[in-house]
Amino acid sequence: MIVSSGGLAWWKQYSGLSELRITQRYHRQSRLCPRPNEPLSLIGATGGPRIQIMLTRSVLIYLSRQEGLKDFAARFRLFKRLTTRFVAGETIEEAIAAIRELNAEGCSASFDHLNESVANPAEAEEEVKEYLQILRRIDETGINSNVSIKLTQFGLELDQDLAYKNARAVVVEAARRGNFVRVDMEASNVTQKTIDIFKRLRAEFELNDVGIVLQSYLRRTYADAQELIKLPARIRICKGAYNEPPEVAFPDKKDTDENYVRVMQLLLSSGIYHGIATHDPKMIDATLEFSRREGIPKAAFEFQMLYGVRRDLQRQLAKDGYNMRVYVPYGKHWYPYFMRRLAERPANIWFVLKNMLKG
Ligand code: FDA
Repeated sequence: MIVSSGGLAWWKQYSGLSELRITQRYHRQSRLCPRPNEPLSLIGATGGPRIQIMLTRSVLIYLSRQEGLKDFAARFRLFKRLTTRFVAGETIEEAIAAIRELNAEGCSASFDHLNESVANPAEAEEEVKEYLQILRRIDETGINSNVSIKLTQFGLELDQDLAYKNARAVVVEAARRGNFVRVDMEASNVTQKTIDIFKRLRAEFELNDVGIVLQSYLRRTYADAQELIKLPARIRICKGAYNEPPEVAFPDKKDTDENYVRVMQLLLSSGIYHGIATHDPKMIDATLEFSRREGIPKAAFEFQMLYGVRRDLQRQLAKDGYNMRVYVPYGKHWYPYFMRRLAERPANIWFVLKNMLKG
């Protein structure tokens, strides 16, 4: 890709590099269409040695943890505009507007206020207030949505009991309003703590008040699913979005996918209402095929996808009469979430960089 003079200008200004090239191999058929999961290669020259950064999934996940880069990236109006593909806005009202549109297309939603790993109890308390307000606004507006929470957002890395109490306050309010709280799953250093807190909540609240997420890339997940459905518990199965070592997670995507199908079959056979969260046509087809073969009704489970990802599939599944829930993230702390979405599909960053560098 040739960098325009406008693109070079910002590189000179912000990085000191005098040359930047973005390379990627292309489909044989079309030079315009990069392979979906191929790493990008950035080559920069400072006049001295050339530096080359492979934008692999792990590099992007590393960058997602560098919050400081958000300010740098956010200087570019275009970058900010591109985030709106995956993030519904910065305020509850913007998320409500996005959810109204989804509802009109036959999809339900799940609110996600973006703010991971809070730094102190006061910040965690603010998150609780935000979620109480979301639950109130869902009732006031009549939109079809539940909420998803992250325990690090409620202080899990500060104090496990604090995270439990904060999550509990949200579940109390959701249960009172007849709504539902999904506890997202984060990196593997908090998997057990997340399951422990969920079990405490589940012991106190009903099946339809609170549910959890499991990730098929983790080796432990099939056993966790077997244990949790005995509670019983409502589970969202997804592949997993963090960078994990091979001791805990399958390094090979093929194993993650096989495990996904095994867990999906276990969940669908349990008679409990679960969430099948994926954009992968192979996982979706496996779910459709298994449910038809086993005579599991469409109403017995839901598909779930992320805001802005495979909107065509979202609409199609809803049109075909399947329950389709879209996870709608919003908030000022969009940077780590946005970078993880790029990591899932490095071709997205090609799109972002190409637009930024056009100047
Ligand atoms: P995979 O990554 O194999 O992608 C399959 C295909 O889907 C791609 O080839 C592409 O066509 C499309 N696609 C996927 N991601 C895309 C993107 N960003 N942009 C464009 N196209 C894309 N993770 C986690 O660790 N904890 C959690 O709690 C959750 N919660 C959650 C909720 C919901 C509703 C969803 C859909 C996902 C999550 N995730 C998650 C994220 C999940 O773990 C995973 O990272 C993504 O869903 C991507 O995996 P896929 O199953 O889509 O397959």
